[in-house]
Amino acid sequence: MAEVHVSDHPLVKHKLTLLRDKNTAPKKFRELIREITLLIAYEALRDLEVEPKEIETPLTTTDGYKLAEPIGLIPILRSGLGMVDGIWEMIPSAEVWHIGLFRDEHTLRPVSYYNRLPIRPTVSVCLILDPMLATGGSAIKTVEILKEWGANRIKFLGVIGAPEGVEALTTAHPDVDIYLAALDDHLNEHAYIVPGLGDAGDRQFGTA
Ligand code: URA
Repeated sequence: MAEVHVSDHPLVKHKLTLLRDKNTAPKKFRELIREITLLIAYEALRDLEVEPKEIETPLTTTDGYKLAEPIGLIPILRSGLGMVDGIWEMIPSAEVWHIGLFRDEHTLRPVSYYNRLPIRPTVSVCLILDPMLATGGSAIKTVEILKEWGANRIKFLGVIGAPEGVEALTTAHPDVDIYLAALDDHLNEHAYIVPGLGDAGDRQFGTA
């Protein structure tokens, strides 16, 4: 069964409150998304494998470690973009593979419009990045795409989740752990998370 991690870190709580505030301007909003993502990623990456690496300090030889697994960052366009940079600075060797989805008007199911994944998987850990886990439709579709690609270790990183989205994703993909800054109350009739923060894409890109 999937594990759902909701941060209880005081820094996350503080920054999330600023992020939710409707008076927070796009520049500050982007900074907060970046910072919260880093704090969430710190937890999500706790089980990364390392391998031994011997190095020389200015004083002696000592045993150290290096990351052993290639990591893929998978932002869902467009609001996942703001979650990339912080993690990428921390793990510059990570590969970034964008996924674009739109909702089919008739079936209401997400359909992929952008996917440049190569034929064979090039990473062993995939982090799906999307700030809002609302209905779960995009996250579920992205996991399907990654599994078809051959990825076998997939985690979902978000900022705010709705109970409906968490339930849908964990039911569809019980092998995908979820990492969030907050689990909110419910979805409204327009599939917005309440209390939420509004449209995460518009608020990052100043298009509200
Ligand atoms: N996407 C958003 O940007 N906000 C929501 O509340 C739900 C989905």
